[in-house]
Amino acid sequence: MNIGIIGAGRIAEKLAMAINNVDGASLYSISSRSLSKARAFAEKFNVTTWYEGTEDFFKDEKLDIVYIATPNSSHYQDTINSLNSGKAVLCEKPFALDIEEAKEMVALAKKKNLLLVEAMWSKYFPALKKVKKIVDSGLIGEIKTIQGDLSYPLGRDKERLYRKDQGGGALLDLGVYPISITHYFLGKPDKIVAESKFTPEGVDESTSMIFKYNSGATALLTCSISAMSSNEFIICGTEGWVRLNGSFHHSSSISSSTKSTGEQHEEFPRSTDGYEYQIQGLLEDFNNKKVESSTVSYSDTLEIMEIMDEIRGQVGYSFK
Ligand SMILES: NC(=O)c1ccc[n+]([C@@H]2O[C@H](COP(=O)([O-])OP(=O)(O)OC[C@H]3O[C@@H](n4cnc5c(N)ncnc54)[C@H](OP(=O)(O)O)[C@@H]3O)[C@@H](O)[C@H]2O)c1
Repeated sequence: MNIGIIGAGRIAEKLAMAINNVDGASLYSISSRSLSKARAFAEKFNVTTWYEGTEDFFKDEKLDIVYIATPNSSHYQDTINSLNSGKAVLCEKPFALDIEEAKEMVALAKKKNLLLVEAMWSKYFPALKKVKKIVDSGLIGEIKTIQGDLSYPLGRDKERLYRKDQGGGALLDLGVYPISITHYFLGKPDKIVAESKFTPEGVDESTSMIFKYNSGATALLTCSISAMSSNEFIICGTEGWVRLNGSFHHSSSISSSTKSTGEQHEEFPRSTDGYEYQIQGLLEDFNNKKVESSTVSYSDTLEIMEIMDEIRGQVGYSFK
C-alpha cells in the first residue's frame, strides 16, 4: 500500500513516522506547496518521491492512497481532487467544514468505488475497544451519563487554529473527539444544547455541549484551545463506570468500577503516540479491497458532521 501525503505539516510528520513503523505500508510520496519543503520532508522520513503541488503527485500510478494532512478548510477540495484522480483517501479529522461538503465527498467515493476514510484514529485503539467490550457486556448496566473533555492550551503559533477561513477553533479540532466517542456509544443525540466562548479572531476558544437522548442518557462534553485538562472520558451506567484515562483520544489505560467486579485498572502499553493502529486498520481494509472503512463508517462520519453543524448553528459560528 503506497501512501502519499498532501501537506508537510505537524501531523504529517507524526503519520510519516507511523507509516514507516507498519509492515506492508509504504510512505511513497509527499506533496507540498514548496518543493524544498517536500524534499526536506522526503529526506527526513525516507519518502521515495516528492512533488511541488499536486498535479504530478496525482498522476503517479504507483500511488494508492492519499493521506490529506492540510488545514480543515482544504479537506473537501483535496479529497475531491484525490478521488477524481482515482486514488483512495485517508482524510484528517474534521472530515470537512460542514455536512454539505462531507456528503459530496462520500457520494464521490461511492461513485468511484474508492475507499475514503475519516482519520478518526481514536477508534482504532485497543483501550477504546476494551471499553466497548465492557459496555456491551452489560457490566456497567445502562448508560446514564457521559463526560468527556479534550482541551489543550494551543497558542497562536498554531496559526490555522485561530483562522476562521481555515476552519479553526476548538470544536472542529478537539471537540470532534468527545463527540465521535460519545456517538460511538450512544449514536446521534435527540437534542443538543451548546455554548461557546470566542477568541478575538472569532474562532471558538471553548465549546460546551449537552447531548440528550430519548433513552434518558445525557452527555456533557467540552473542548478548549486555552484550557489545560486531564482529558478524560468517563461513561457511567446503572451498575458502574468505565473511564478512558487521559489523553482519552489515544488512551493507553482504562479504569473501571462496577458492582460485580469492583475497581479495576488496565494498561495498554506502547512506545509511540499510536497512529500505527490507524495505519494497520487502513492497510487491512485496503488489502481486503474494502470501499468503506470497517472502523469509521460513512454514516458515523456524516452524523458527526451533522452534530458539529448543529452546534455551530446554536453558538453562531460560521467560517465566513
Ligand atoms: N489526528 C490527529 O491527531 C491530528 C493532530 C493534529 C492535527 N490534525 C489535523 O490535521 C490537519 C493538519 O493539522 P496540522 O496541525 O498538521 O497543521 P499544520 O502543521 O499547519 O500543517 C498543515 C499543512 O497543510 C499544508 N497547507 C496546504 N494549504 C495550506 C494553507 N492554505 N495554509 C496553511 N497550510 C496549508 C501545509 O503544508 P505545505 O506547506 O507542505 O503545503 C501545512 O504545513 C488538520 O485538519 C488537523 O485538524 C490531526
